[in-house]
Amino acid sequence: MTTEETPRPRRVAIAGASGYTGAELLRLLVQHPGVEVVALTAETHANQPISQLFPSLAGFVDLICRPLDPAALAAEAEFVFLALPHKASMAVGADLVKRGVRVLDLSADFRLKDPAAYRTWYGFEHLAPSLLGEAVYGLPELHREEIAAARLIAVPGCYPTSAILGFSPLLARGLADPETIVIDSISGVSGAGRKPELPTHFSEANESLKAYGVGKHRHTPEIEQELSGVAGRPVTVTFTPHLAPLTRGILTTITARLAGPRSTAELLGVYREFYRGRSFVRVLEEGRLPETKHVLHSNLCDVGLVSDARTGRVIVVSAIDNLVKGASGQAVQCFNLMAGLDERAGLWIPGLFP
Ligand SMILES: NC(=O)c1ccc[n+]([C@@H]2O[C@H](COP(=O)([O-])OP(=O)(O)OC[C@H]3O[C@@H](n4cnc5c(N)ncnc54)[C@H](OP(=O)(O)O)[C@@H]3O)[C@@H](O)[C@H]2O)c1
Repeated sequence: MTTEETPRPRRVAIAGASGYTGAELLRLLVQHPGVEVVALTAETHANQPISQLFPSLAGFVDLICRPLDPAALAAEAEFVFLALPHKASMAVGADLVKRGVRVLDLSADFRLKDPAAYRTWYGFEHLAPSLLGEAVYGLPELHREEIAAARLIAVPGCYPTSAILGFSPLLARGLADPETIVIDSISGVSGAGRKPELPTHFSEANESLKAYGVGKHRHTPEIEQELSGVAGRPVTVTFTPHLAPLTRGILTTITARLAGPRSTAELLGVYREFYRGRSFVRVLEEGRLPETKHVLHSNLCDVGLVSDARTGRVIVVSAIDNLVKGASGQAVQCFNLMAGLDERAGLWIPGLFP
């Protein structure tokens, strides 16, 4: 804790608690020393106890999921996490902010600064475009101070978290050509949410690998927006996501031409310097590369790289748990900063895997 005295617990609510990111938030928040969870909401599962929807939570929390009512949430909670599908958060988020609640939205609804990008990439008109300038992109490794002061956090997408953390140090130092970036990501099926759909049906996804959203995935503008900010010039990327028969985890490989010859050891030194003091990014030693299993259920992002002198390109690999650093853990990390708590509160879970 940043203060010597135990702070009073912050009253928080989770909208969309019956989904995967909502339940993951609850798993983290029920054991968080600075939090009291006061309300949960659901849509089709409204009026059901959360411990029936997720029996692993029985004995830890016995709240009943209610229908979503922003006025009722604002009356009880200081902070509301929105774990809703995109397009469902816009109006609710704007309403809650107007009522003085601090909001952490896990959907894409406040991530893009340009309202026109919602028309292009998501096919809808934004209902609260005036909030897009104010919303802070909730990647603490890049925006820590703005997050601490924010009323509205746009928690990054899972793929963008792995890509932006994986490549920012090289762009920040001008070491890679920003016009040659190719990003390939592989995700587990929980990235698509709990609601059953055909592509994530067991017999469709198991024992198979496929690319999807090729050339048009909605996380592309978010990656470009943030990498452009880091580079200080417009960055375009080729981003290709893939679905793998894993429950959770994302592995991302990023390649680009180096601005000049650099050894692997030199580039790893740049990464270590860039992420100095950032608890959740682990820069691996030369000769080691990340694996999803080493970050599962944690808020960690592992990063490793190889400088390929033969092609003049760098190959960066990053790994996260899509439901933790890719969503709910990152949201809790942002909440900690907003509440003036240790950034790691409720998140420090070492030694899960050898
Ligand atoms: N899954 C990931 O790895 C991941 C990572 C980063 C970001 N995200 C983003 O986080 C958000 C939640 O994702 P998820 O994977 O948790 O989805 P999910 O498992 O499908 O859960 C969605 C939740 O929202 C509720 N809901 C659905 N429509 C609603 C509406 N119109 N009004 C109010 N509540 C509604 C659902 O309630 P019922 O179940 O009761 O119907 C459920 O609680 C999405 O925007 C997603 O893009 C997900």
